[in-house]
Amino acid sequence: MGQKKEQRIGIFDSGIGGFSILKEIHKSAPHLKAYYIADDAFAPYGSKSADEIIQRSKYIVEELLKFDVELIVVACNTATAFAIDYLRDHYSVSFVGVEPFLNAIDKFNWTREDKSCVITTELMSKSVRFNDLKLRYDKFNQLDYFVTKNLATIIEKYFSQLDKQELMASLEDEFSIFDKSAYKYIILGCTHYPLIGREIEAITGLAVISPCPYVARRVVSLIGLDGNETAESSSFEFTTTKASSPLRFVSKDFSSLP
Ligand code: DGL
Repeated sequence: MGQKKEQRIGIFDSGIGGFSILKEIHKSAPHLKAYYIADDAFAPYGSKSADEIIQRSKYIVEELLKFDVELIVVACNTATAFAIDYLRDHYSVSFVGVEPFLNAIDKFNWTREDKSCVITTELMSKSVRFNDLKLRYDKFNQLDYFVTKNLATIIEKYFSQLDKQELMASLEDEFSIFDKSAYKYIILGCTHYPLIGREIEAITGLAVISPCPYVARRVVSLIGLDGNETAESSSFEFTTTKASSPLRFVSKDFSSLP
């Protein structure tokens, strides 16, 4: 029997946020070979312009295509909102994006009295795609929308320095913008946020809702598992745009992910 072709995917975010999706993908399809680019030279995406996000996404996609990937995960809500249509129009590879899980309203049969809130980056909050999503799912204004301007940067800092006390103090500050007692859930509209889902729950007292498992499911259904996959890969290929030009990937163990 001939050797089966290795299934490869590309994945990117402005930083480590996409790990929240990569971890879920790995759980469902551990044999996939993943190439991850953290665009930290241009982070945070939430404070950039729509045009910059499209330019960066193009550059990153072209780097990932060098590895013969069959699908690319835009593991960033902000890049999905501004660049995924462009990418789909210009490249023949499949793209999977991520959006805040407003469909929780339908999926979990929330009553009209169930109020929840959604947090996103600044740029994401201004996107047409996000607005369309609100019109489609939030028909009875059950959700309130907040921009957590510094949160992705706070999370990056936490995972490079691991100062828990500083993290919790920054979160208190960041979440002082709304009255938590008014809500039941908090919908996480940025892939960085699930990385500290437990800490967000501790500070706000609200249960978090993340789209990441659903994104992973979509990836797996598109890639098509046939039950005949080769052995589990314990690592993925990783690079950051700040560290190297041209990009040099290094192997990173899945067990090291936050
Ligand atoms: N992780 C990203 C998102 O899902 C972007 C965070 C940022 O760089 O602002 O929107």
